[in-house]
Amino acid sequence: MATNRTFTMIKPDAVKAGNIGNILQMINNAGFRIVAMKYTKLSKEAAGQFYAVHKERPFYGELCDFMSSGPIVAAILEKDNAIADFRTLIGATNPAEAAPGTIRAKYATSIGENAVHGADSDENAAIEGNFHFAGVEMH
Ligand code: RTP
Ligand code: MG
Repeated sequence: MATNRTFTMIKPDAVKAGNIGNILQMINNAGFRIVAMKYTKLSKEAAGQFYAVHKERPFYGELCDFMSSGPIVAAILEKDNAIADFRTLIGATNPAEAAPGTIRAKYATSIGENAVHGADSDENAAIEGNFHFAGVEMH
């Protein structure tokens, strides 16, 4: 079932660089409404759980170290066609391939440190939203 909510995180690199405000402004300007939001920090264990889907990938250890290296902002966002539209707004995983004007084109520095996370399916958005905001509906 298609839903109109997605889940995002502003990653530690972008928080460290002072880009929370710039990124939230882009999110608002693109028509997303913030349903839930928090400033927090993941332990390495929590980062490992969150990205467990990638645990066989070669970059998994690096990803968990990075995602637990500093504070993040986690949020649930609402808009028609939220999942796909948010993936368009953030751009490709590798900022060198991200379309001009996307969040990653502007604020990501590498394929690993790429400023933002965006859920890639309704199913994963529900799992991820629930991970950070138990009890908030994802539909
Ligand atoms: P995300 O889940 O964070 O929104 O990113 P994504 O869908 O665009 O990319 P995905 O394939 O799900 O990878 C998750 C995150 O792992 C890091 N990564 N590093 N060093 C590498 O080759 C590599 N590949 C991926 C990135 O932080 C990526 O966003
Ligand atoms: Mg992903």
